[in-house]
Amino acid sequence: MEGFSREVFADRRKKIMERLGPAVAVFPAASELIRSNDTTFPFRQDSDFYYLTGFPEPDALAVLINGESEQFVLFTRPRDPKQEIWTGRRHGPAGAREVFGADEAYPLNELDSTMPKILSNVDRVFFAFGKQESWDRRMMGWINQVRTKGRRGAVSAPTELIDAALVVHEKRIIKEADEIDRMQRAARISADAHTLAMKACSPGMTERELQNQLEHCCLSRGAQAMAYETIVAGGANACVLHYVENSARLNQGDLVLIDAGCELDNYASDISRTFPVSGRFTKTQRRVYEIVLEAQSVGIKSVRKGETVHSVHSSVVNLLAERLVELGLLDGDPERHARICLKSAETPDEDAREERLEDGEIGLHHYYMHNTSHWLGLDCHDVGRYREAGAWRRLEPGMILTVEPGLYISSEADYAPEAYRGIGIRIEDDVLVTEDEPEILTESCAKSVEEVEAACLGR
Ligand code: GLY
Ligand code: MN
Ligand code: MN
Repeated sequence: MEGFSREVFADRRKKIMERLGPAVAVFPAASELIRSNDTTFPFRQDSDFYYLTGFPEPDALAVLINGESEQFVLFTRPRDPKQEIWTGRRHGPAGAREVFGADEAYPLNELDSTMPKILSNVDRVFFAFGKQESWDRRMMGWINQVRTKGRRGAVSAPTELIDAALVVHEKRIIKEADEIDRMQRAARISADAHTLAMKACSPGMTERELQNQLEHCCLSRGAQAMAYETIVAGGANACVLHYVENSARLNQGDLVLIDAGCELDNYASDISRTFPVSGRFTKTQRRVYEIVLEAQSVGIKSVRKGETVHSVHSSVVNLLAERLVELGLLDGDPERHARICLKSAETPDEDAREERLEDGEIGLHHYYMHNTSHWLGLDCHDVGRYREAGAWRRLEPGMILTVEPGLYISSEADYAPEAYRGIGIRIEDDVLVTEDEPEILTESCAKSVEEVEAACLGR
């Protein structure tokens, strides 16, 4: 069970069912995806399904029943010795009971006969809609079968169909001790891999080679996969936020931005570091780097209970605006720039905003066009609401979020002084909200100018 005891999952199912009340809740597993012809992408379990079951195989269906008694029912691929020679061992229904604690388990071919029975005489049904159309269709098919019977008066059909995501996601957003431990370990592996990449990097290497070294470090340290596609972006490639081509050569004198994080037992880490290909920042690079670093430090300090992702973003935006005016990349009042930048994130409709940039005026979003934070957990961009009843949600102990300011001055940015063009920098750490000081899970990764230069030299 990938290192978690089965009680962890049983406890989550129990808590979820307590929140749902009398109901049936249905969660599909992920399916394999074709990569080309008959080969598949590496399988990754659906996060909600995994959170509640720990079951690692594709195409399963978990059903939680909260009725006269509580029951956990799992439908799985059947054992199939011939197929298992090709595609590996399956747990089958017996394994679902013995290893994963299912009260009842059936092979998938019994879904159509069993699900209508489970959904009979139940008013409220929670379902994780919209994950896969095929599951949505089958679920509606089973409900319609119950309705048909219901018209004959034999049973009653569900009257409330409710999205199961919200209640699971609201639980997932507060991490349990075991999860924090796992994320701390994932973060440490990724932090070491970034520091190793700084040492391994040399001019003339390709971005792909550097990616390979970093990922090798993660996988050899126990991670099962990367949590998202690794970005290795030399020079101006760093100004493409999701650059994943990783095919260019790294040039002496350029910076390289790496955004990479491993996944450990399905838990993500997410780190960005930017460092000089040849080991020493130029004066100009250092100036921009230290601004991003200062912004990140201000952002991390505000990751405190009672703050919001928006107040973290706001502290970063205010600092960046002030420093970019000092540097001559922005003109005018930094507070106004910060206000406009924050409003543009909150009110996408430009006409609805009171304060706007003049026509042709350069604003902070020309250099910093993404948000500062996202939740982190089983998913890299983890689930959970950012707002509640229209207001930004308050941070609570147990939440984990990234703090990832950046500055991106593209080579075509003719509005910026020439010396700064082609510089893209992002610094990203994973931060746990506690009762008091924020805890940086990725703290061991080199970050100050001195630490980065020392890591590049292999010290
Ligand atoms: N690696 C994706 C992100 O930083 O959000
Ligand atoms: Mn991130
Ligand atoms: Mn990232």
